[in-house]
Amino acid sequence: MKEYFTLSEIDEVAQVVRSKTKHQPKIGLILGSGLGDLANAVEDADSIAYTELPYWPVSTVHGHAGRLVIGKLEGKDVLVMQGRAHYYEGYSMAETTLPVRVMQRLGVDILIVTNAAGAINPDYVPGDVMFLSDHIAMIGMIGNNPLRGANLDELGPRFPDMSQAYDRELLAIAQGVAGKNNIKTFAGVYVALSGPSFESPADLRFLQAIGADAVGMSTVPEVIIARHAGTRVLGISGISNKANLDGSTSTTHEEVLEAGRILVPKLTTIIRGFLAAL
Ligand code: HPA
Repeated sequence: MKEYFTLSEIDEVAQVVRSKTKHQPKIGLILGSGLGDLANAVEDADSIAYTELPYWPVSTVHGHAGRLVIGKLEGKDVLVMQGRAHYYEGYSMAETTLPVRVMQRLGVDILIVTNAAGAINPDYVPGDVMFLSDHIAMIGMIGNNPLRGANLDELGPRFPDMSQAYDRELLAIAQGVAGKNNIKTFAGVYVALSGPSFESPADLRFLQAIGADAVGMSTVPEVIIARHAGTRVLGISGISNKANLDGSTSTTHEEVLEAGRILVPKLTTIIRGFLAAL
């Protein structure tokens, strides 16, 4: 496991990606659990298995295909990650977020991150879409921040701002697209935990008390790395299950993947419309 990457190691990966595609994507897209299908819509696609890339973290989780798909969606050059690796799989924070660094070195300046999340907000039901308006970096707050280690000054500052982690202009565009297509969406706060165990009822009541609307095991480290280098972010949670604040039911990974089937058409419409509007 590598705890840190140097700029030249990041560039080494970027160079391998460059050698395997004719496209020059400026938009990156990370597709979370059960949401990978959109990658199949990419046109004129170059596909790169994660295993072909040095240092690249390969997801071991069912529902994460594990390849980069680079091509055109709505006329825009995009780099799509079909599946992501998570911290709980045993990767370091630097490894988990290496793909975002590589995207930045390839010229990506807008990142669309998606995830499956549990609903803490009682108004949300499985199949709902929540745009991220902000996050709680629970996973990073007490030391496990992906920027720990020597700062890469060429990429961004030692103490990066997070006052607008999710770009308001991009959010407004995406909300407009959803509205036009009669897709109901929410905007809320996503809290990232390390996982892989789901939350206890007391965990969930705590997360609700501190202002979280949805909970998951990814995304926030990627967004911190994105913002460090000024990459603009649109964040979308697909609500896969209700969090069990009273302990009356339990959450399963199958439930998370099942909700993906309802969510994929909605997210496809939103993301396609968003790309077309850019
Ligand atoms: N908790 C944490 N992560 C998740 C959940 C959940 O309920 N659903 C999908 N990812």
